[in-house]
Amino acid sequence: MSLKAVVSGCGAYLPERVLTNQDLARQVDTSDEWIRERTGIRQRHIAADEEKTSDLAVEAAKAALTASGYGPDDIDLIIVATTTPDLTFPATAAIVQAKLGVENGAAFDIQAVCTGFVYALSVAEKFLTYGQHKRALIIGAETFSRILDWEDRATCVLFGDGAGAFVLEAQDEKVADGRGVVASYLRCDGRLADLLYVDGGVSTTGEAGRVRMQGNRVFREAVTRISEAMESVSEIAGIDVSSIDWFVPHQANERIIQGVVKKLALRPNQVISTIAEQGNTSAASIPLAYAVGVADGRIKPGDLVMLEAMGGGLTWGAALLYA
Ligand code: UT7
Repeated sequence: MSLKAVVSGCGAYLPERVLTNQDLARQVDTSDEWIRERTGIRQRHIAADEEKTSDLAVEAAKAALTASGYGPDDIDLIIVATTTPDLTFPATAAIVQAKLGVENGAAFDIQAVCTGFVYALSVAEKFLTYGQHKRALIIGAETFSRILDWEDRATCVLFGDGAGAFVLEAQDEKVADGRGVVASYLRCDGRLADLLYVDGGVSTTGEAGRVRMQGNRVFREAVTRISEAMESVSEIAGIDVSSIDWFVPHQANERIIQGVVKKLALRPNQVISTIAEQGNTSAASIPLAYAVGVADGRIKPGDLVMLEAMGGGLTWGAALLYA
């Protein structure tokens, strides 16, 4: 019996509080015009003081469970991709498991910063198609606002908070009927860690630290590495990039997304973009955008979807799936 990992539901959660570019321009030396022209961002959501990453993750997971028609008892694997865990340990996935009332299987976090959701999807797909687990919740969740330096205009204008989730389940190939994850491609080059990192941590400063980024150097790496990942995953799958129905990129910068669209000769109307309303939500941005595409009827069952991301590490990767 050959198994496929099929997305049977997705969900999203954004905190209520919205921070606009105009709000930011009152706090640091920036402008709505600069942020929109350089990044495409108009606003971002910020978690309330009492809201933790696990709370955002739980809301997105509940929405994904509802969409899939499954309940907590049907889940036997939870993977949370996050850079902003509630605690150093236990894993945020363990906290989410308890809050959801899931009592079976395994739960752990994945740390690949903005590429975290692609890493999580790839790992979950292996667990499911190997037959070790039956039904997974994979969640990208971030309270990135907590690790921003709110005096550094070069980074604080870029990021936001949120969570997105997939229910991913093992299905017999015949039942899946063409749906499911086709291939994924993951990479890391740790020599480039100092381009984008946090200047603290448990075994260094003992504090969480703040985001530091050489933005223009990361920007220069982005289009090349993302395009390479998309071409590689297409080659692994034996599918031409031109066959993609929808492109759901990590939402870091509208100019990066458009650069990739141009390089790979995609059509601008194939892109699901949420960057204007949500900013860069790190590991949450792909499932958040995917959920928008499903909710507004663009992504339909059977459509071929390309996911990609690049982030701290540097890490980067791509995945292809039939919705
Ligand atoms: O998700 C993880 C991956 N992250 C990314 O992919 C982010 C990649 N990088 C980027 O998106 C862009 O590099 C940024 C949006 C961060 C910056 O855009 P840029 O066009 O690369 O600008 P820059 O860093 O080269 O800075 C240009 C100018 C500088 O001023 P001078 O030196 O030319 O006088 C900056 O100080 O813009 C200035 N600047 C700002 N001005 C107003 C930087 N941030 C701001 C700001 N408001 N918020």
